Amino acid sequence: MNEIRIYPDPILRKKALPVKMIDGQVKEIAEHMAEAMYTNKGIGLAAPQIGILSQIAVVDLGEGLRILINPEIIEGEGESVLEEGCLSLPNIEVPVKRKDKVFLRGWNMDGKEMNLELVGFPGRVYQHEIDHLNGILIVHYLSRLKRELLVKKMLKRLRDS
Ligand code: NI
Repeated sequence: MNEIRIYPDPILRKKALPVKMIDGQVKEIAEHMAEAMYTNKGIGLAAPQIGILSQIAVVDLGEGLRILINPEIIEGEGESVLEEGCLSLPNIEVPVKRKDKVFLRGWNMDGKEMNLELVGFPGRVYQHEIDHLNGILIVHYLSRLKRELLVKKMLKRLRDS
């Protein structure tokens, strides 16, 4: 269950479903996700990456673990491009255009509504995780040709290592 799904695992392309009730099962999933994130030295992880199609994201930017349920971007401003990595795409980096500033809404594990205003890198990380919940990966910001070449290289490197 803790195994990180690697592209092109089809589950990574599916849309995650909203969490209807924050119960023990959701808590268990979030714990597994945090464990998988820390084990793999990631800063964020979305539930589809461990094979679960629920709208749950975990992020730790060095300020402690944050769990967000049903997160969504309400508004965004400005744009910039930065290279990003992803635990589901080992050893590759892709330039991704994201909003500089986002207003995000979600729920925490206590069922409390969270409204976050995020600027710069932290906002980028949440946008990346919310993309995962919609079945979008960083390679989908590339042309199909570039994506196929990069993924072929990644899979070859994985096989050879
Ligand atoms: Ni990712």
